[in-house]
Amino acid sequence: MQKTSRVRYIITFLVALSLVLIPVTPASNIALASGIQTIGFEDGTTMGVEGRDGDDDSVEILTVTDELARSGNNSLLITNRTKAWHGPSLNITNSVEPGVQYIISVWVHAKSPDSSTFMLSTQLGEGSAASYNNLVELNISTAAGWVELTARYTFPEDDYITIYVENNSATAEFYIDDIAVFPAAGAGFSADLSLPSLAEVYKDHFLIGNIFSRGDFSGARFDLIRHHFNVMTAENAMKPEALGGSQKGDYNFAAVDAMVDTLEENGILVHGHALVWHSQSPDWLYLNDDGSFLTRSQARANMQDYINTVAGHYAGRMLSWDVVNEAFQPSFGHVPGNWREMLRQGGTGAESSGWFGAYANGANADAGESGADYIYDAFVFTRLADPNAILYYNDFNETEQAKREVIARMTVEFNEKWATDPRNTEPDRLLIEGLGLQAHYWTNNLNVRDVEDTIVRWAETGVEISITELDIPAGDYNNYKALTETEEMTQALLYARLFRIFVEHSDKIERVTIWGIDDPSSWRSQGSPLLFEADGTEKLAFYAVMDPEGFLAGDYNDIRNPQPPEEEPPDEEPEPDEPTPSPAPSPQPEPDDTTEKPSRNILPIILIAISAAAVIYTVVVLVVLKKKKK
Ligand code: XIL
Repeated sequence: MQKTSRVRYIITFLVALSLVLIPVTPASNIALASGIQTIGFEDGTTMGVEGRDGDDDSVEILTVTDELARSGNNSLLITNRTKAWHGPSLNITNSVEPGVQYIISVWVHAKSPDSSTFMLSTQLGEGSAASYNNLVELNISTAAGWVELTARYTFPEDDYITIYVENNSATAEFYIDDIAVFPAAGAGFSADLSLPSLAEVYKDHFLIGNIFSRGDFSGARFDLIRHHFNVMTAENAMKPEALGGSQKGDYNFAAVDAMVDTLEENGILVHGHALVWHSQSPDWLYLNDDGSFLTRSQARANMQDYINTVAGHYAGRMLSWDVVNEAFQPSFGHVPGNWREMLRQGGTGAESSGWFGAYANGANADAGESGADYIYDAFVFTRLADPNAILYYNDFNETEQAKREVIARMTVEFNEKWATDPRNTEPDRLLIEGLGLQAHYWTNNLNVRDVEDTIVRWAETGVEISITELDIPAGDYNNYKALTETEEMTQALLYARLFRIFVEHSDKIERVTIWGIDDPSSWRSQGSPLLFEADGTEKLAFYAVMDPEGFLAGDYNDIRNPQPPEEEPPDEEPEPDEPTPSPAPSPQPEPDDTTEKPSRNILPIILIAISAAAVIYTVVVLVVLKKKKK
C-alpha cells in the first residue's frame, strides 16, 4: 500500500470511528449542569437552604444542629411551621440543565408528631407563573430514623427552580440532611414510536389518557404522550392549591394556560381535575386565619367565586371536570340509611373536609341543611360556569361494595333534585353526568370482578363512567414490593384483565386515564406501577394494555427473555370471591420470532465493542506504519 493511500485509509477509519462513537455518547454528557453536591450542613450554615415562607422573615426556623446527623456531624432542624406547605427550600436554578433527568435525594428524620406524611416537591417559576410538582410522598414515623425521599425529574427550561420538603402536619418538626441533585446515569428518555398507539388501539372503545406536569412538554416525553394519549389530566397543576393561590383573589393561570394551549395545539383533549376537594386546597376557601371554619354562607360565596373564576376561565376547553373529589370517607363497611353519614365530616384531621365543616357552620338542621350541601352546590355552580363540560364525581376505594353504593345513591338523588331545579335550563340533561373510578389499585389485592361490579352498578344510575387515575403498584397500601420478574408479570396480567373488562363494558366507559408515564415519576414510584420504565422502555404492562387478549393468551411472555415453554398460559379469570388473585408467574410459550423484540440494551454494547476494535486496529496500523518508516 502507498504511504498516501495508507494515510487516507487511516483518516477514513478515524472518520468512521467518530461516526460510530458519536451516537453512543449519551446526550446528557454534553454541557451538563452537574447538579448539587451533597449538602450536609457541615460548615455550620444552612448552605443556601431557606424557609419557603420567605428569606429573612421566614416563619419556619431553620437551625443547623448536631443533635442528629445522617452523615458527618450536622443536620438542619426545621421548627415553627404553621402551614403544611412550610418547609426548607433550595434554589437549584443554575445547577440543573433543562431536558436532563436528575435524581433528587433528601434525607429526612421526623421529630414530631410520631407519624406524618413528608413530600418532596419542585417549584418551577415564581408568582402567578409558579407551578408546584410533587415528586414523592412518604408516611414516616419518628421510629423510622433517617429516611430518603428520592425521585427522578427532568427539569424544563425555567428561570426559577427550587426543590423543597413539606409535611401534611402543619406544625410537624423534622430534620433534613444530605441533599443531593445529580444527573441520572444514562438519563436519556426515549420513546419508541414504532409501538402501536394506545389511543389508536382503543379509538372505537374509549379515550386513553395520562397526566401532565410542567416537565412533560418537550422532547421524547412529549412525543410519547402525543403518540399514545388523546386526553390529558393535570397531575397537580389544576388543583385548588395550584390555581387558587394562597390568598383570596390570587388566582394563577399562566403556567396552566401554556400547557393547555400546547395540548390543544396537538389535538389532545383536557380533563379538569379537580374543583372541590378536601386536600391540596388553599385554606382561604373554607377557613378563617385562626383555623376556624368560615360560615356556611362565606364558604358558599368562596366556592362560587372559585368555580366561576376557574371553570369560567377554561369554559368550553375542558372535556369534563372532576367537580367534587373524594367527598366520602376512605373506607367503610356498611351502607347507611342516608349516604350523608359516610361523608368526610368537618374537623382538623387529614381525613376531614373543610368544605363540610364550613357548610355545617350555620346550617339550619330543621330546614334540612347540613355540611353535605356543598356537593350539590359545587355541581350546580360548575354547570352554570361551563355548560359544555361533562361533570364528574370522582373517588377512590370505589371497588368497596358500601362505598360504590353510597356514591350511586348520592348521584341518583342529586340528579332527581336537579330535574326540578329552576336553574336547570336543559330538562333532559343530568347534573352529575359521570362517575370516576380513580382505580389506584395494588398487585396484592386487586380483584378485577369488584371493578366490573362498580362499573355495572354505577352505569345503572344512567351516567357515563371513566377510569380516572389507574395505576397498579407492586404490594399493598404502605407496603411496597420490588418489581421482580414475577411481580411484573402479576402486574401486567392485572392490567390485561382490567382492560378486558373495560372493553367488555366500553359502551359505558368514556375514558381510561393512567396516572403517570414512567415508574419513577409516579406518586407511588416505590411500587413501579406504570407502563414505562425510567428511560421510556415499555414494560410488560404496556403489552398487556396494548393487547389484553393476546397477553392473557401468553403471546408476549417472551418479549424480554425468550425461553422454552413450561406450561399453558393462564386465560382464566380468578374466581369472583377470591380475595387476592395472585396471578401465576410468567408461563413461557414457544419463542416466536415475529413477536420477539430486540433488547435495546445490547445495542450500545455492540457499538462500544466495534469502537474498541476500531481503536485497537488504528493503533496497530499506526505502529506498523511507524516501523516501516524507520
Ligand atoms: C396525587 C399526585 O399524583 C401527587 O403528585 C400529589 O402529591 C398528591 O396527589 N387522588 C387524586 C389525585 O385525585 O389528585 C392524587 O394525585 C392521587 C389520589
